[in-house]
Amino acid sequence: MSDTQSLLQQGAIGSVTVPNRFVLAPMSRASAQDDGTPTPNMARYYAKFARGGFGLLIAEGAYTDDQYSQSYSNQPGLVSDAHEKGWAQVVQAVNAEGGKMILQLIHAGAVSQHVEHSYAPSAVRPSGTMLQGYGHKSGAYDVPRELDLKEIDAIKQGFVQAAKRAENAGFDGVEVHCANGYLLDQFLTPETNLRTDQYGGSLENRIRLTQDIIGDIQLTTGRDFLVGVRLSQAKATNPDYFWHNGVKDAEVIFSALAQAGADFIHLASEAKGYAYHSATRQGENLSALAKKLTGLPVIANGGLHDAALANAIVSQDQADFIAVGKTAMLNPDLPKRIAQGRPLRDFSYDVFSYGVSIEAQGKWDAEQSVSA
Ligand SMILES: Cc1cc2nc3c(=O)[nH]c(=O)nc-3n(C[C@H](O)[C@H](O)[C@H](O)COP(=O)(O)O)c2cc1C
Repeated sequence: MSDTQSLLQQGAIGSVTVPNRFVLAPMSRASAQDDGTPTPNMARYYAKFARGGFGLLIAEGAYTDDQYSQSYSNQPGLVSDAHEKGWAQVVQAVNAEGGKMILQLIHAGAVSQHVEHSYAPSAVRPSGTMLQGYGHKSGAYDVPRELDLKEIDAIKQGFVQAAKRAENAGFDGVEVHCANGYLLDQFLTPETNLRTDQYGGSLENRIRLTQDIIGDIQLTTGRDFLVGVRLSQAKATNPDYFWHNGVKDAEVIFSALAQAGADFIHLASEAKGYAYHSATRQGENLSALAKKLTGLPVIANGGLHDAALANAIVSQDQADFIAVGKTAMLNPDLPKRIAQGRPLRDFSYDVFSYGVSIEAQGKWDAEQSVSA
């Protein structure tokens, strides 16, 4: 068997069939208009990945309400008619190249670098410092204000309305972001959730908000519209975070989300790659567990541009799909290159020399091809 055969086989999530197992990982490019409307340049950017062979694209996290969900300046949103129209143009461009597309929905909570006052499950300052290149704020995060139950309800509504708009815009589904230290992960994480109501305390309570959001979106959108979830142990500013009770916690989390009606589970990685982040402290593999326990399609992520490694994960039934992030940024045709046995351009953080936006990368790319 060639060492890419499993990767090049057709797959499916619900009724959405995908010609191969490559998924574009969501990557915030801070390239929307100031009011969060996606641009024609974003449509051209995403279309390149579909043209390059990515069967399924997960678009960068879009904010879900105009209160305090926005993470960064120039982050796209999905809360207005203009946003919906902008995204519809992005989806059309991707579909025209044969690609399927899911939108990630994200609420920043305590790690917003955009809003004046951030809100979170509890008034706990996030560890680490703000990300560079994503807006005017920098340094330590603020201490967020604690959300009351009415505000939590409004957050749920924000996710549901945004999902409905995503369906109108032509997306094949949405991915609810409960990972990397953003709002829903702040609820899940005991260090940032000190609540004593139905959203705090036990793990069952801490996953409840994500569960409710998934269930409510399923009720509001059509049967074929996918509703997935992104999970991670690590936080953007703390790569060494692990779920305290390993497999026991994972079983509660995966089962709760499957019962809520999730169509897929995406296990995300931070800096140290899939093997490190998708295992418990004791070394048990979480993507394989998610598959076995729920029977749902699972997307693995983290340093998986290495075709042999990615292929082994799929062929050994540890995951169904492989999401590629940074290396795809420099190789939008990564699936085609791998299928044809052509080498990949190595990722380098130099790509952000002029900033994180698509336009900034364009400038850097132009310089590279001139000097190549
Ligand atoms: C520039 C950049 C932006 C990112 N934005 C998001 C995002 O919007 N949502 C998300 O869940 N992950 C985001 N990520 C994380 C990636 O989806 C992915 O998990 C990470 O890059 C590891 O995969 P890789 O090793 O293939 O790059 C981002 C990563 C990068 C490099």
